[in-house]
Amino acid sequence: MATASSRRAEGEREFAMRDADFRVIADAIYDHAGIVIGDHKKELVYSRLARRLRQLGLRDFTAYLARLDGPNGDGERNHLINALTTNHTNFFREPHHFDYIKDVLVPHWKTRAAKTGDKTLKIWSAGSSTGEESYTLAMTLDAALKSDPGWKWKILATDIDTNVLKHCREGSYPATAISGIPKGYRSYCERDRRDGANRFVMSPVLKSHMVFNRLNLHASWPIKTKFDAIFCRNVTIYFDGPSKQRLIERFATLLKPDACLFLGHSESLLGGKVDMSPVGRTIYAFRGGVHNV
Ligand SMILES: C[S@@+](CC[C@H](N)C(=O)[O-])C[C@H]1O[C@@H](n2cnc3c(N)ncnc32)[C@H](O)[C@@H]1O
Repeated sequence: MATASSRRAEGEREFAMRDADFRVIADAIYDHAGIVIGDHKKELVYSRLARRLRQLGLRDFTAYLARLDGPNGDGERNHLINALTTNHTNFFREPHHFDYIKDVLVPHWKTRAAKTGDKTLKIWSAGSSTGEESYTLAMTLDAALKSDPGWKWKILATDIDTNVLKHCREGSYPATAISGIPKGYRSYCERDRRDGANRFVMSPVLKSHMVFNRLNLHASWPIKTKFDAIFCRNVTIYFDGPSKQRLIERFATLLKPDACLFLGHSESLLGGKVDMSPVGRTIYAFRGGVHNV
């Protein structure tokens, strides 16, 4: 009988994946998470899920689909989503966005607070992945606001992928990731002494301002508050046109009139219905608002 390794040596796949199996998986991830997986991604889907089939002791993808349809289907769908999301991120990615917060939004928020007496800020990092984006926001805000007492700011970090949210909560990163943090902000990273590994943990000061939640951008959102800024960067690239537009329209309903929406380097408003326009590189504000005169 052929073993897994002898099959691999003969160039055969360890698990049979028919085109029809691939389609069912691609349709499931689209229906649930809005993520479009084209035919050219078959190999990627195979390699990301093969480990899960091995773990479950399954023979082929047909058996995996039966599991997705079975009594543990909901739990398995989470595994499927975690396996198929793309989580690439880093600290201070697209640094002009954090410069804009520091140089334009913080002075604006201070002026606004002087008029209204309201020193609260809410920022949403939607599709936060392993947390580098939300911790970068927290470092930027803490450094810019700590000399001015009375500010209460919160960062909501959400993602559909429960594995990356665990990373976010732990806030522990390898030294290689930390090297992307400018020297002036390194005091927010403390050596992680738990297992002697070459890792750093983010300061509890930052964590005290952060809330981490699982949230599917493609489903309903339990959010009632309005935000001063929403970051949704390098997430909509995985969605199709109608899903992107719907998402931008939903974000617009949760932004304060003087808020900004930050998208990733290859993303845009797509000429949708929202009355926003660029105020910086992939930074959008409501037309006629304070940032957009
Ligand atoms: C490439 S990462 C971007 C991380 C970060 N925003 C950045 O720009 O560095 C994309 C993230 O979007 C998340 N994502 C994809 N589809 C989602 C959905 N329907 N709801 C919530 N998050 C989703 C993925 O799990 C992944 O962590």
